[in-house]
Amino acid sequence: MKVSCIETGRNFILVVLVFDIFSSLSLAAVSQSSPQCTAWLVQSIPTDLLHLPRVSGVLSTADVFRWLAGNSSQTLDITTQYWQLRAQPENPLSGDYGYSKDDLQNFGAHEGYGVYKALENAADRNVNIRLLSHSGRNPYYTSEPAELASGRPNVKNVTLLLSEWWEKGLIHSKIWVSDNRDVYIGSANMEWRSLTQVNELGIYLVGCPIIAKQVVSYFDNLWTLASLNSPDYTKIVSDQKWQIERKVPCWSRFLDSQVRCRSPLPPFIETPHVAGYPVLSDPNMFKLPIQTPGCNYLSAFEPQSSYLSFAPPELLFGSYQADEQAWVETIKSVGKGGTVRISTMDWLDQSQYTKQTVYWSTLSSAVSEVVFGKHATVKILVAYWAHLFNNADQYLNSLLYSNVLCSSSKHNKCTGKVEIKYYIVPGFNMTGPAIKDGEKTENRYPAHSRFYHAKYAVSDVRAHIGSSNIIWDHFYSTADVSFGIYDPAIVSQLEEIFDADWNSPYAVPVEEVVEGGPLHCVGSSMSMNSVLKL
Ligand SMILES: *[C@@H]1O[C@H](CO)[C@@H](O)[C@H](O)[C@H]1NC(C)=O
Ligand SMILES: *[C@@H]1O[C@H](CO)[C@@H](O)[C@H](O)[C@H]1NC(C)=O
Ligand SMILES: *[C@@H]1O[C@H](CO)[C@@H](O)[C@H](O)[C@H]1NC(C)=O
Repeated sequence: MKVSCIETGRNFILVVLVFDIFSSLSLAAVSQSSPQCTAWLVQSIPTDLLHLPRVSGVLSTADVFRWLAGNSSQTLDITTQYWQLRAQPENPLSGDYGYSKDDLQNFGAHEGYGVYKALENAADRNVNIRLLSHSGRNPYYTSEPAELASGRPNVKNVTLLLSEWWEKGLIHSKIWVSDNRDVYIGSANMEWRSLTQVNELGIYLVGCPIIAKQVVSYFDNLWTLASLNSPDYTKIVSDQKWQIERKVPCWSRFLDSQVRCRSPLPPFIETPHVAGYPVLSDPNMFKLPIQTPGCNYLSAFEPQSSYLSFAPPELLFGSYQADEQAWVETIKSVGKGGTVRISTMDWLDQSQYTKQTVYWSTLSSAVSEVVFGKHATVKILVAYWAHLFNNADQYLNSLLYSNVLCSSSKHNKCTGKVEIKYYIVPGFNMTGPAIKDGEKTENRYPAHSRFYHAKYAVSDVRAHIGSSNIIWDHFYSTADVSFGIYDPAIVSQLEEIFDADWNSPYAVPVEEVVEGGPLHCVGSSMSMNSVLKL
């Protein structure tokens, strides 16, 4: 019997039952013996989202992290921005401070301990573990990788400050590679809140050495950077493409070829006459059969196209494409009259962290182009949370203005549209330590929790899953990695995940949150008051 993710609705219950059977059967079977590459979508959903329907066949991030550690016998490579798998309710500097054992149990903090324990076990099994992170977040920094490395020569812990290479850069990719064959790529950081208090999305590839090898090449590049003295290898460029001055590695193609250095990393694509990194006409595609037991167990014995994309472009190698190109091409892969679904924490057509601000409309332009040219509907989910950029609503309104332009002339043959919703996780405005300065606070959840953090795009033919938020910095100065695939089963399951969020009471049209709407974008500012009216 062929089961498809599209057969929901009337057959929903049956499909769920069959999925459950398949999931448990296949999970036992896939990992050890199967020579076939297998892909599963992976999610974290904050606790207490009672009105969010679950999509069956999707794995949980905590399980997948535990399994990656649990199954590794030789090597385990992990990059993450920061670490905090273990909650710290007794540390007054921690956003977890003051919560009780029961609270933490309800928050799902034990899942973080479980992942930490699985890593400790892997370290004790003498697996060669490489942990690469940014400096971390106060007050935890890199204490967990340091503890794992302490007294264990098989565990290497490295801090890499990408800001020494790219102005304001940081390690933002969340990748796991176990035994050069099992991989996680997605949005979840190495912290307990990413398992149970934040919406995350990723992909788990099991038994995929061909893909794993290239992820490890990228990892090796970062590892190499960590061992080099950055002042010897960086230059200030007067960037013609983005019209700012900024620091880049000396082999960057943003620099004039006369002043470039020889890259210490594997050979790059030859593009001698371009300032910056061009769109590749033929980026590397894997042609592999990939099974998708979580969605459609009987599909995908045929080879399909899948890819990796990387940022920043100076870390590219061979014919691998930049992450920006892969996002754009995912949007543009939509068929005539089709729908593109996009999830991101932030959406700004500019840089956020550079000294000089960059204007960057690459992704917004791609959206408008398919709205006009292909009559596509583009649905975008953006996080609304405690640390929302204060100009987010202006940019989202500017993108919504495409709808006005689309029908601005009777000569326009434009029937596409953009729809944008904010994802508001209940409790987002009640986060922080339970006790501050010895007093009980009103907070109900720990700091840095209760928000939407998934980053993916899915057209009717192609799914793209990564770690980049939609702002310039993620494509040009932070380390981010994505995996994408043309697979009908993954595409329809990812659409199902998106639609569950989109149609839930937690997703609210931007126009209802922002006073004014698209015609009044100038000077509108989002206030808590407008949310309170919801
Ligand atoms: C290995 O991974 C599989 C799924 O890929 C999982 O079912 C199994 O429990 C994992 N084993 C360990 C020891 O974690
Ligand atoms: C790595 O771990 C060792 C051992 O615990 C520690 O002394 C060192 O500070 C750690 N380094 C980093 C960069 O975290
Ligand atoms: C948080 O926002 C909700 C609406 O989303 C509102 O009902 C509640 O009063 C707010 N709480 C605080 C502390 O602002």
